[in-house]
Amino acid sequence: MRIFTSLSLAVLGLALLPAATTPARAQAVAQTPPMGWNSWNYFAERVTDKDIRASADQIVSTGMKDAGYIYVNIDDTWEAERDANGLLHTNEKFPDMKALADYVHSKGLKIGIYSGPGPKTCAGYEGSLGHEEQDAKMYADWGIDYLKYDLCSFIPEVMDKQAPHDKAAQMRLMIAAYDKMAKALKATGRPIVFSLCQYGWDATWEWAPALGGNLWRTTGDISPDWDRVYAILSQQDGLAKYAGPGHWNDPDMLEVGNGKLSLAENRSHFSMWAMLAAPLLAGNDLPNMKPEIKAILTNTDVIAIDQDALGNQGTRAYSDGEVEAWTRHLAGGALAIAVLDAGDTRYSTHPFHLDLAKLGLHGPQQGKDLWTGKAITLTDQMPIEIGSHDILLVRIGAPK
Ligand code: GLA
Repeated sequence: MRIFTSLSLAVLGLALLPAATTPARAQAVAQTPPMGWNSWNYFAERVTDKDIRASADQIVSTGMKDAGYIYVNIDDTWEAERDANGLLHTNEKFPDMKALADYVHSKGLKIGIYSGPGPKTCAGYEGSLGHEEQDAKMYADWGIDYLKYDLCSFIPEVMDKQAPHDKAAQMRLMIAAYDKMAKALKATGRPIVFSLCQYGWDATWEWAPALGGNLWRTTGDISPDWDRVYAILSQQDGLAKYAGPGHWNDPDMLEVGNGKLSLAENRSHFSMWAMLAAPLLAGNDLPNMKPEIKAILTNTDVIAIDQDALGNQGTRAYSDGEVEAWTRHLAGGALAIAVLDAGDTRYSTHPFHLDLAKLGLHGPQQGKDLWTGKAITLTDQMPIEIGSHDILLVRIGAPK
Protein backbone atom coordinates (compact mmCIF):
# COMPACT_ATOMS: atom_id res chain seq x y z
CA MET A 1 0.00 0.00 0.00
CA ARG A 2 2.89 2.32 -0.68
CA ILE A 3 1.80 5.36 -2.63
CA PHE A 4 3.01 8.81 -3.49
CA THR A 5 4.05 10.44 -0.28
CA SER A 6 5.38 13.70 -1.62
CA LEU A 7 2.18 14.38 -3.56
CA SER A 8 0.12 14.01 -0.40
CA LEU A 9 2.49 16.10 1.67
CA ALA A 10 2.27 18.90 -0.86
CA VAL A 11 -1.51 18.76 -0.88
CA LEU A 12 -1.61 19.00 2.90
CA GLY A 13 1.05 21.69 3.04
CA LEU A 14 3.29 19.46 5.14
CA ALA A 15 6.99 19.71 4.48
CA LEU A 16 9.43 16.85 4.58
CA LEU A 17 11.59 17.18 7.65
CA PRO A 18 15.30 17.72 7.52
CA ALA A 19 16.90 15.08 9.73
CA ALA A 20 17.07 15.62 13.48
CA THR A 21 15.00 18.78 13.77
CA THR A 22 11.95 19.23 15.92
CA PRO A 23 8.93 20.07 13.78
CA ALA A 24 7.38 23.41 14.57
CA ARG A 25 4.01 21.82 15.21
CA ALA A 26 5.24 19.17 17.64
CA GLN A 27 4.66 19.84 21.31
CA ALA A 28 7.63 20.03 23.63
CA VAL A 29 7.19 16.45 24.77
CA ALA A 30 9.12 13.27 24.10
CA GLN A 31 12.47 15.02 23.83
CA THR A 32 13.85 11.55 24.54
CA PRO A 33 11.97 8.39 23.48
CA PRO A 34 8.90 7.95 25.73
CA MET A 35 9.34 5.38 28.50
CA GLY A 36 6.59 3.64 30.40
CA TRP A 37 4.27 0.68 30.18
CA ASN A 38 1.28 -0.24 27.99
CA SER A 39 -1.50 -2.70 28.79
CA TRP A 40 -1.85 -4.40 25.39
CA ASN A 41 1.01 -6.89 25.11
CA TYR A 42 0.10 -8.73 28.29
CA PHE A 43 -3.50 -7.87 29.24
CA ALA A 44 -4.93 -7.19 25.75
CA GLU A 45 -8.74 -6.95 25.98
CA ARG A 46 -8.86 -8.06 29.62
CA VAL A 47 -7.34 -4.87 31.04
CA THR A 48 -9.24 -3.11 33.84
CA ASP A 49 -8.91 -0.03 36.01
CA LYS A 50 -7.57 -2.31 38.75
CA ASP A 51 -4.77 -3.60 36.48
CA ILE A 52 -3.74 -0.06 35.58
CA ARG A 53 -3.59 0.96 39.25
CA ALA A 54 -1.66 -2.19 40.19
CA SER A 55 0.77 -1.61 37.33
CA ALA A 56 1.32 2.01 38.37
CA ASP A 57 2.02 0.80 41.93
CA GLN A 58 4.52 -1.72 40.58
CA ILE A 59 6.31 0.82 38.41
CA VAL A 60 7.03 2.75 41.58
CA SER A 61 7.83 -0.18 43.90
CA THR A 62 10.08 -2.04 41.44
CA GLY A 63 12.25 1.02 40.81
CA MET A 64 11.08 1.28 37.21
CA LYS A 65 9.88 4.83 37.80
CA ASP A 66 13.30 5.82 39.10
CA ALA A 67 14.81 4.20 36.01
CA GLY A 68 12.69 6.48 33.80
CA TYR A 69 9.41 4.63 33.11
CA ILE A 70 6.80 7.37 33.39
CA TYR A 71 3.83 6.73 31.06
CA VAL A 72 1.18 4.22 32.15
CA ASN A 73 -0.78 3.63 28.97
CA ILE A 74 -4.24 2.13 28.64
CA ASP A 75 -4.57 0.50 25.22
CA ASP A 76 -7.76 -0.53 23.43
CA THR A 77 -10.98 -1.77 25.12
CA TRP A 78 -11.73 0.99 27.64
CA GLU A 79 -14.47 2.48 25.45
CA ALA A 80 -18.27 2.15 25.70
CA GLU A 81 -20.86 3.98 23.54
CA ARG A 82 -21.44 7.65 22.77
CA ASP A 83 -24.44 9.41 24.30
CA ALA A 84 -26.88 11.71 22.48
CA ASN A 85 -24.36 14.55 22.73
CA GLY A 86 -21.66 12.47 21.16
CA LEU A 87 -19.76 12.14 24.42
CA LEU A 88 -17.90 8.84 24.61
CA HIS A 89 -18.41 6.90 27.83
CA THR A 90 -16.08 4.39 29.42
CA ASN A 91 -17.18 0.78 29.83
CA GLU A 92 -17.62 -1.11 33.11
CA LYS A 93 -13.93 -2.05 33.24
CA PHE A 94 -13.06 1.65 33.67
CA PRO A 95 -15.72 3.18 35.93
CA ASP A 96 -14.06 6.57 36.42
CA MET A 97 -11.26 7.61 34.07
CA LYS A 98 -10.64 10.95 35.78
CA ALA A 99 -10.19 9.22 39.14
CA LEU A 100 -7.84 6.72 37.50
CA ALA A 101 -5.78 9.51 35.93
CA ASP A 102 -5.63 11.28 39.31
CA TYR A 103 -4.41 8.07 40.91
CA VAL A 104 -1.66 7.56 38.33
CA HIS A 105 -0.63 11.20 38.63
CA SER A 106 -0.53 10.91 42.43
CA LYS A 107 2.29 8.38 41.95
CA GLY A 108 4.31 10.93 40.00
CA LEU A 109 3.53 9.10 36.75
CA LYS A 110 1.70 10.11 33.57
CA ILE A 111 -1.22 8.37 31.90
CA GLY A 112 -1.92 7.47 28.29
CA ILE A 113 -4.98 6.35 26.37
CA TYR A 114 -5.88 4.86 23.00
CA SER A 115 -8.24 5.62 20.10
CA GLY A 116 -8.24 5.74 16.33
CA PRO A 117 -9.40 7.89 13.40
CA GLY A 118 -11.94 5.33 12.18
CA PRO A 119 -15.46 4.58 13.42
CA LYS A 120 -14.10 1.59 15.37
CA THR A 121 -10.82 0.70 17.05
CA CYS A 122 -8.84 -2.41 16.14
CA ALA A 123 -10.67 -4.41 18.80
CA GLY A 124 -14.03 -3.13 17.50
CA TYR A 125 -14.68 -0.48 20.16
CA GLU A 126 -15.81 3.09 19.49
CA GLY A 127 -13.29 5.18 17.51
CA SER A 128 -12.97 8.97 17.19
CA LEU A 129 -14.26 9.54 13.63
CA GLY A 130 -16.27 12.77 13.60
CA HIS A 131 -15.59 13.39 17.30
CA GLU A 132 -11.91 14.28 17.25
CA GLU A 133 -12.18 17.64 19.02
CA GLN A 134 -14.69 16.37 21.53
CA ASP A 135 -12.51 13.37 22.36
CA ALA A 136 -9.32 15.42 22.61
CA LYS A 137 -11.03 17.82 25.01
CA MET A 138 -12.30 14.90 27.08
CA TYR A 139 -8.79 13.43 27.29
CA ALA A 140 -7.43 16.80 28.40
CA ASP A 141 -10.21 17.15 31.00
CA TRP A 142 -9.31 13.74 32.39
CA GLY A 143 -5.63 14.68 32.52
CA ILE A 144 -4.42 12.37 29.77
CA ASP A 145 -0.76 12.82 28.80
CA TYR A 146 -0.35 10.47 25.82
CA LEU A 147 -2.59 9.27 22.95
CA LYS A 148 -1.96 6.22 20.76
CA TYR A 149 -4.04 6.68 17.61
CA ASP A 150 -4.57 3.47 15.66
CA LEU A 151 -5.61 3.41 11.98
CA CYS A 152 -7.49 0.08 11.70
CA SER A 153 -11.13 0.61 10.61
CA PHE A 154 -10.30 3.91 8.91
CA ILE A 155 -8.95 1.83 6.02
CA PRO A 156 -12.10 -0.11 5.05
CA GLU A 157 -14.63 2.39 6.35
CA VAL A 158 -13.20 5.66 5.04
CA MET A 159 -10.26 5.15 2.68
CA ASP A 160 -11.71 2.24 0.71
CA LYS A 161 -15.24 3.65 0.69
CA GLN A 162 -14.47 7.30 -0.11
CA ALA A 163 -11.67 6.71 -2.59
CA PRO A 164 -11.96 3.21 -4.00
CA HIS A 165 -8.96 2.22 -6.15
CA ASP A 166 -7.33 5.66 -5.73
CA LYS A 167 -4.31 5.09 -3.50
CA ALA A 168 -3.11 8.69 -3.59
CA ALA A 169 -6.53 9.98 -2.50
CA GLN A 170 -6.70 7.32 0.19
CA MET A 171 -3.40 8.46 1.55
CA ARG A 172 -4.52 12.09 1.63
CA LEU A 173 -7.54 11.01 3.68
CA MET A 174 -5.32 9.09 6.08
CA ILE A 175 -2.83 11.90 6.62
CA ALA A 176 -5.66 14.40 7.03
CA ALA A 177 -7.22 12.19 9.71
CA TYR A 178 -4.00 12.10 11.73
CA ASP A 179 -3.54 15.82 11.16
CA LYS A 180 -7.04 16.49 12.47
CA MET A 181 -6.35 14.74 15.77
CA ALA A 182 -2.93 16.39 16.06
CA LYS A 183 -4.62 19.80 15.77
CA ALA A 184 -7.38 18.80 18.21
CA LEU A 185 -4.80 17.73 20.79
CA LYS A 186 -2.84 20.92 20.33
CA ALA A 187 -6.02 23.01 20.71
CA THR A 188 -6.55 21.57 24.20
CA GLY A 189 -3.43 23.37 25.37
CA ARG A 190 -2.37 20.26 27.31
CA PRO A 191 0.96 18.67 26.38
CA ILE A 192 -0.09 15.25 25.05
CA VAL A 193 2.33 12.86 23.36
CA PHE A 194 0.88 11.90 19.97
CA SER A 195 1.67 8.31 18.97
CA LEU A 196 0.68 7.26 15.45
CA CYS A 197 -0.14 3.58 15.19
CA GLN A 198 -0.09 2.99 11.46
CA TYR A 199 2.09 -0.13 10.97
CA GLY A 200 4.77 1.64 8.88
CA TRP A 201 2.85 1.68 5.62
CA ASP A 202 3.33 4.48 3.13
CA ALA A 203 6.59 5.65 4.72
CA THR A 204 4.93 6.95 7.88
CA TRP A 205 8.27 8.43 8.96
CA GLU A 206 8.19 10.85 6.01
CA TRP A 207 4.90 12.51 6.91
CA ALA A 208 4.16 11.82 10.60
CA PRO A 209 6.75 14.23 12.09
CA ALA A 210 5.53 17.19 10.05
CA LEU A 211 2.02 16.95 11.46
CA GLY A 212 3.33 16.79 15.02
CA GLY A 213 3.62 13.03 15.55
CA ASN A 214 5.98 12.33 18.43
CA LEU A 215 6.33 8.69 17.45
CA TRP A 216 5.03 6.50 14.69
CA ARG A 217 4.92 2.76 14.32
CA THR A 218 7.28 1.46 11.67
CA THR A 219 5.91 -2.09 11.44
CA GLY A 220 2.96 -4.36 12.11
CA ASP A 221 2.38 -5.78 15.57
CA ILE A 222 5.12 -7.32 17.65
CA SER A 223 4.62 -10.71 19.33
CA PRO A 224 6.64 -12.35 22.10
CA ASP A 225 8.82 -14.64 20.01
CA TRP A 226 12.32 -14.17 18.62
CA ASP A 227 11.42 -14.49 14.96
CA ARG A 228 9.00 -11.58 15.19
CA VAL A 229 11.31 -9.42 17.30
CA TYR A 230 14.15 -10.01 14.85
CA ALA A 231 11.93 -9.46 11.79
CA ILE A 232 10.95 -6.06 13.19
CA LEU A 233 14.57 -5.20 13.99
CA SER A 234 15.53 -6.02 10.41
CA GLN A 235 13.03 -3.50 9.10
CA GLN A 236 14.52 -0.56 11.06
CA ASP A 237 17.80 -0.09 9.25
CA GLY A 238 17.57 2.95 7.00
CA LEU A 239 15.11 4.84 9.20
CA ALA A 240 17.65 6.46 11.52
CA LYS A 241 17.59 9.84 9.80
CA TYR A 242 13.92 10.33 10.65
CA ALA A 243 14.40 10.08 14.43
CA GLY A 244 15.39 12.90 16.75
CA PRO A 245 14.27 14.75 19.87
CA GLY A 246 10.47 14.99 19.85
CA HIS A 247 9.94 12.56 16.94
CA TRP A 248 10.82 8.86 17.03
CA ASN A 249 10.53 5.71 15.00
CA ASP A 250 8.45 3.18 16.97
CA PRO A 251 9.24 -0.49 16.28
CA ASP A 252 6.38 -1.35 18.69
CA MET A 253 6.18 -1.91 22.42
CA LEU A 254 8.45 -4.19 24.39
CA GLU A 255 7.75 -7.88 24.84
CA VAL A 256 10.49 -8.27 27.48
CA GLY A 257 9.21 -10.83 30.01
CA ASN A 258 6.43 -12.11 27.75
CA GLY A 259 5.76 -15.30 25.83
CA LYS A 260 8.54 -17.56 24.71
CA LEU A 261 11.46 -15.14 24.84
CA SER A 262 14.53 -16.58 26.59
CA LEU A 263 16.66 -14.41 28.86
CA ALA A 264 19.19 -13.92 26.06
CA GLU A 265 16.39 -12.91 23.68
CA ASN A 266 14.96 -10.49 26.24
CA ARG A 267 18.40 -8.92 26.66
CA SER A 268 18.88 -8.63 22.91
CA HIS A 269 15.39 -7.20 22.34
CA PHE A 270 15.89 -4.58 25.06
CA SER A 271 19.42 -3.72 23.92
CA MET A 272 18.45 -3.31 20.29
CA TRP A 273 15.41 -1.15 21.11
CA ALA A 274 17.84 1.06 23.05
CA MET A 275 20.21 1.14 20.07
CA LEU A 276 17.25 2.18 17.90
CA ALA A 277 16.27 5.08 20.20
CA ALA A 278 12.91 3.33 20.38
CA PRO A 279 10.20 4.20 22.87
CA LEU A 280 10.65 1.82 25.83
CA LEU A 281 7.11 0.83 26.71
CA ALA A 282 7.23 -2.33 28.79
CA GLY A 283 4.33 -4.67 28.10
CA ASN A 284 4.69 -7.38 30.71
CA ASP A 285 2.77 -8.48 33.79
CA LEU A 286 4.40 -6.15 36.30
CA PRO A 287 2.88 -7.55 39.51
CA ASN A 288 4.32 -10.98 38.63
CA MET A 289 7.61 -9.84 37.10
CA LYS A 290 10.56 -12.19 37.74
CA PRO A 291 13.72 -10.60 39.23
CA GLU A 292 15.76 -11.37 36.11
CA ILE A 293 13.21 -9.55 33.94
CA LYS A 294 13.21 -6.59 36.30
CA ALA A 295 17.01 -6.55 36.09
CA ILE A 296 16.80 -6.26 32.30
CA LEU A 297 14.14 -3.56 32.28
CA THR A 298 15.94 -1.49 34.91
CA ASN A 299 19.48 -1.72 33.53
CA THR A 300 20.24 1.98 33.73
CA ASP A 301 23.31 1.73 31.48
CA VAL A 302 21.17 0.35 28.66
CA ILE A 303 18.40 2.86 29.34
CA ALA A 304 21.02 5.64 29.11
CA ILE A 305 21.78 4.51 25.56
CA ASP A 306 18.11 4.73 24.65
CA GLN A 307 17.65 8.09 26.35
CA ASP A 308 20.85 9.69 25.10
CA ALA A 309 20.34 13.43 24.63
CA LEU A 310 21.60 13.48 21.02
CA GLY A 311 18.65 11.35 19.92
CA ASN A 312 20.77 9.74 17.24
CA GLN A 313 19.28 6.37 16.21
CA GLY A 314 21.76 3.50 15.78
CA THR A 315 22.52 1.82 12.48
CA ARG A 316 23.88 -1.54 11.37
CA ALA A 317 27.60 -1.11 10.65
CA TYR A 318 28.09 -4.54 9.10
CA SER A 319 27.15 -8.15 9.41
CA ASP A 320 29.02 -11.40 9.10
CA GLY A 321 26.39 -13.93 8.25
CA GLU A 322 24.07 -14.17 11.19
CA VAL A 323 26.13 -11.88 13.47
CA GLU A 324 25.48 -8.15 13.19
CA ALA A 325 27.41 -5.17 14.53
CA TRP A 326 25.46 -1.98 15.17
CA THR A 327 26.68 1.41 16.39
CA ARG A 328 24.97 4.40 17.94
CA HIS A 329 26.65 7.76 18.39
CA LEU A 330 26.04 9.28 21.81
CA ALA A 331 26.45 12.68 23.40
CA GLY A 332 29.97 13.68 24.38
CA GLY A 333 31.56 11.65 21.60
CA ALA A 334 30.68 8.29 23.19
CA LEU A 335 29.66 5.29 21.11
CA ALA A 336 27.43 2.29 21.81
CA ILE A 337 28.35 -0.92 20.03
CA ALA A 338 26.04 -3.92 19.84
CA VAL A 339 27.14 -7.27 18.47
CA LEU A 340 24.08 -9.47 18.05
CA ASP A 341 24.09 -13.16 17.24
CA ALA A 342 20.76 -13.37 15.47
CA GLY A 343 21.23 -16.93 14.28
CA ASP A 344 20.88 -20.41 15.67
CA THR A 345 23.94 -22.09 14.27
CA ARG A 346 27.19 -20.23 14.85
CA TYR A 347 29.64 -22.43 16.77
CA SER A 348 32.70 -21.53 18.82
CA THR A 349 34.91 -23.07 16.14
CA HIS A 350 33.95 -20.02 14.06
CA PRO A 351 33.85 -17.08 16.46
CA PHE A 352 32.89 -13.68 15.19
CA HIS A 353 35.89 -11.38 14.65
CA LEU A 354 35.35 -7.72 15.43
CA ASP A 355 36.42 -5.42 12.61
CA LEU A 356 37.04 -2.07 14.30
CA ALA A 357 37.61 -0.20 11.05
CA LYS A 358 34.07 -1.12 9.96
CA LEU A 359 32.84 0.57 13.14
CA GLY A 360 34.89 3.67 12.32
CA LEU A 361 37.40 2.88 15.09
CA HIS A 362 41.16 2.47 15.11
CA GLY A 363 43.26 0.91 17.85
CA PRO A 364 42.17 -0.71 21.13
CA GLN A 365 39.03 0.75 22.70
CA GLN A 366 38.34 0.80 26.44
CA GLY A 367 34.70 0.46 27.33
CA LYS A 368 32.08 -1.05 29.60
CA ASP A 369 30.15 -4.23 28.89
CA LEU A 370 26.65 -3.04 29.79
CA TRP A 371 25.33 -6.50 30.69
CA THR A 372 28.18 -7.68 32.91
CA GLY A 373 28.97 -4.18 34.17
CA LYS A 374 32.67 -4.93 33.70
CA ALA A 375 35.39 -3.07 31.84
CA ILE A 376 36.19 -4.46 28.41
CA THR A 377 38.86 -3.67 25.84
CA LEU A 378 37.87 -4.08 22.22
CA THR A 379 40.74 -4.87 19.87
CA ASP A 380 40.79 -5.27 16.14
CA GLN A 381 39.88 -8.75 14.90
CA MET A 382 39.31 -10.01 18.45
CA PRO A 383 37.28 -13.20 18.45
CA ILE A 384 33.93 -12.86 20.17
CA GLU A 385 31.70 -15.78 21.06
CA ILE A 386 28.10 -14.86 21.61
CA GLY A 387 25.36 -17.40 22.30
CA SER A 388 22.50 -17.80 19.90
CA HIS A 389 20.16 -14.77 20.06
CA ASP A 390 22.39 -13.12 22.69
CA ILE A 391 24.20 -9.81 22.50
CA LEU A 392 27.35 -7.98 23.53
CA LEU A 393 26.53 -4.36 24.31
CA VAL A 394 29.45 -2.02 24.96
CA ARG A 395 29.76 1.68 25.60
CA ILE A 396 33.03 3.36 24.76
CA GLY A 397 34.05 6.96 25.33
CA ALA A 398 32.41 9.22 27.86
CA PRO A 399 30.51 7.35 30.61
CA LYS A 400 26.81 8.12 31.01
C1 GLA B 1 -3.49 -2.86 16.90
C2 GLA B 1 -2.22 -2.22 17.44
C3 GLA B 1 -1.85 -2.89 18.75
C4 GLA B 1 -3.00 -2.73 19.75
C5 GLA B 1 -4.29 -3.29 19.15
C6 GLA B 1 -5.50 -2.97 20.04
O1 GLA B 1 -3.29 -4.18 16.53
O2 GLA B 1 -1.18 -2.32 16.52
O3 GLA B 1 -0.67 -2.32 19.29
O4 GLA B 1 -3.15 -1.38 20.06
O5 GLA B 1 -4.53 -2.77 17.85
O6 GLA B 1 -6.70 -3.39 19.49
